[in-house]
Amino acid sequence: MQHADLDWEDGQPRSRAFGDVYFSRDSGLDETRHVFLAGNRLPERFAALAAGERLTVAETGFGTGLNFLAAWQLFDAVAPAGARLDFVSTEKYPLSLADLTRALAAWPALSPYADALLAQYRGVVPGYQRFVFDGGRVVLTLLVGDVLETLPQLDARVDAWFLDGFSPAKNPDMWVQALFDAMAACSAAGASFATFTAAGFVRRGLSAAGFDVKKVPGFGSKREMSVGTLPHAPERLWRAPWLARPATITGRRALVIGAGIAGASAAASLARRGFAVTVVERHPLAAQEASGNPQGVLYLKLSAHGTAQTRLLLAAYGYALRTLASSLTRGRDWDDCGVLQLAFDEATAHKQDALAAAFPEALLKRVDAAGASEHAGVALAENALYFPEGGWIKPPALVQALLATPGVTCRYGQAEQALARMEDGWRLTLANGEALDADMVVIACANQSGALLPDTTLPLKPIRGQVSVAPATEQSSRLRTVLCGEAYVAPAADGAHTFGATFDFKSTDTTATLADHRANIDALSALSPALYAALGGDALAPEALGGRAALRSSTPDYLPLVGPLASHTGVSEAYAELARDATLPLTTTMPWLPGLYISAGHGSRGMVSAPLAGELIASLACGETLPLPAPIVDALSPSRFALRALMRRKKT
Ligand SMILES: Cc1cc2nc3c(=O)[nH]c(=O)nc-3n(C[C@H](O)[C@H](O)[C@H](O)COP(=O)(O)OP(=O)(O)OC[C@H]3O[C@@H](n4cnc5c(N)ncnc54)[C@H](O)[C@@H]3O)c2cc1C
Ligand SMILES: C[S@@+](CC[C@H](N)C(=O)[O-])C[C@H]1O[C@@H](n2cnc3c(N)ncnc32)[C@H](O)[C@@H]1O
Repeated sequence: MQHADLDWEDGQPRSRAFGDVYFSRDSGLDETRHVFLAGNRLPERFAALAAGERLTVAETGFGTGLNFLAAWQLFDAVAPAGARLDFVSTEKYPLSLADLTRALAAWPALSPYADALLAQYRGVVPGYQRFVFDGGRVVLTLLVGDVLETLPQLDARVDAWFLDGFSPAKNPDMWVQALFDAMAACSAAGASFATFTAAGFVRRGLSAAGFDVKKVPGFGSKREMSVGTLPHAPERLWRAPWLARPATITGRRALVIGAGIAGASAAASLARRGFAVTVVERHPLAAQEASGNPQGVLYLKLSAHGTAQTRLLLAAYGYALRTLASSLTRGRDWDDCGVLQLAFDEATAHKQDALAAAFPEALLKRVDAAGASEHAGVALAENALYFPEGGWIKPPALVQALLATPGVTCRYGQAEQALARMEDGWRLTLANGEALDADMVVIACANQSGALLPDTTLPLKPIRGQVSVAPATEQSSRLRTVLCGEAYVAPAADGAHTFGATFDFKSTDTTATLADHRANIDALSALSPALYAALGGDALAPEALGGRAALRSSTPDYLPLVGPLASHTGVSEAYAELARDATLPLTTTMPWLPGLYISAGHGSRGMVSAPLAGELIASLACGETLPLPAPIVDALSPSRFALRALMRRKKT
């Protein structure tokens, strides 16, 4: 991914790569309203929505966001309260924040909307990037990358298309049959499209993809443009039947069990969609287990090879950054102070070279030891990878902020429950006999998640970890970025640094130990001798440290379990044939437990992955555009291990 390379003429951007303007010089906003908004009859269609209904618009070429902001402004003006705009756009060369700010200054009429976009415009890195505006009334999913790669993986039902993207003559690579086919594949029946061009090959391509196409008067001096509709939605053959989505939840009562970052994230995402959410937690307070550390870091362990883990983390990182920026006080509860991953051995240095070659500098860049020291504010001996937007957070503050979303109620101190499927939903019976009824349930109990679900296979494994906390000194307070190597240390918050963490695969005892504090001190001295010295050096004694231990919850493939649940017996029966022949094509739909979802197994990356996991569950439950590419949604399927076991004829 590269940022757009622009020339500016009279305050308006022009792409150097494409030799074309982003919008008409006469009046870009009027052209947008004529071509894309009126061309798709959006004034009438937005006004006709009922509360609780949603319209999905998708665009090729986000550019300056002018079309998106104009659509949002119109939606705000005419759509009823309770309706939602689900906007998807694609962009190969996103504008830098500085360029976006400059371009949008041209439209004072859009400034409230532009300001909201600019405030959220962070973490715009390759992959699917979800933005939430106006308390969830407007959602933007920006597919960063080439539309021909990103769009075919979109799981959505688009109602209206803005076919933009520079003129076909100047951008012939994009205006191809594969694009028109991909548009049709994720369209709802009756979907409309509008485009400024009337080029014959575009009209023929859209017809071949199934759209009825007609020419209508263009904007200003342009004689003609094209509009049309797709009368029939195509069968979605690419989605394997065992991964086809479960039914949309129609009621609006949700139960979330577990008040860590996973549960709080799911609760907030559901509440924004109008659910009355009850969060049930066994402790007297939220964030008492893995999500209870005083500081956590936004750490990305990436691969240069586009693995599912990497694609998940990139989407989740951007979403986490936007969630933090919109819900917490910067400098107090979180800080995007940057993260340095130190090249502490040769293998790591090689890996970092590959990562620097694979990813844009907006995400990460190589710095030498002098540059790393400059960023960090303390002397470092190693080269490093610098993540300018990364930083640290106080996980309990984030959990609290998410649980404060209007519509979320918390029930604490509820240790023993029983979950039962009822005719029209689920019933959680508390220890005192009280029954909580709901249309859907999200289990977010980390390693305990299986306890409420006797007939499911959840290969969750606890990994004990301990962080240590040392009082900051004048010298240590110079640390400006998070440092990561085999351990991590964060800049001081509330007068103390958090560092660690240990990995213990055997013990599940969550009492903090002196031995683990010692291990963290040793790791700190290897990570940064200068910081170790600043914190007292050899005088830094385990007995003098604060800290805590908790259990991470991990899965065999290190991806979390996020999505709908199926019963173990149901899966075994539906796919029994697999045990005989693992190559058989599956034709039976997954026997989902209706309305039952899980978000667990976030391992050592929950601060990054859990917020987007909550958004994914809410999007699945509401039948919306998904915030991740379909293959990644599939890779997170909680049933993947049960299916793999059947294929290998293993008992689970
Ligand atoms: C030492 C350590 C350091 C870490 N550092 C980082 C870091 O720097 N960056 C990062 O991204 N991640 C880090 N992690 C990982 C991160 O903390 C976890 O991935 C994340 O907190 C998991 O969140 P969760 O909500 O799934 O689980 P938890 O926070 O454990 O929450 C689960 C909740 O479910 C509740 N519960 C369980 N059973 C029931 C029941 N039957 N009824 C009601 N409630 C129930 C529990 O009480 C708990 O509150 C670290 C983890 C540890 C242990
Ligand atoms: C005319 S501009 C879009 C203007 C935009 N809709 C707006 O409101 O500002 C075209 C955009 O399409 C993007 N683009 C061109 N080819 C693309 C491709 N193959 N995939 C994704 N985006 C592409 C360009 O980078 C550019 O930002």
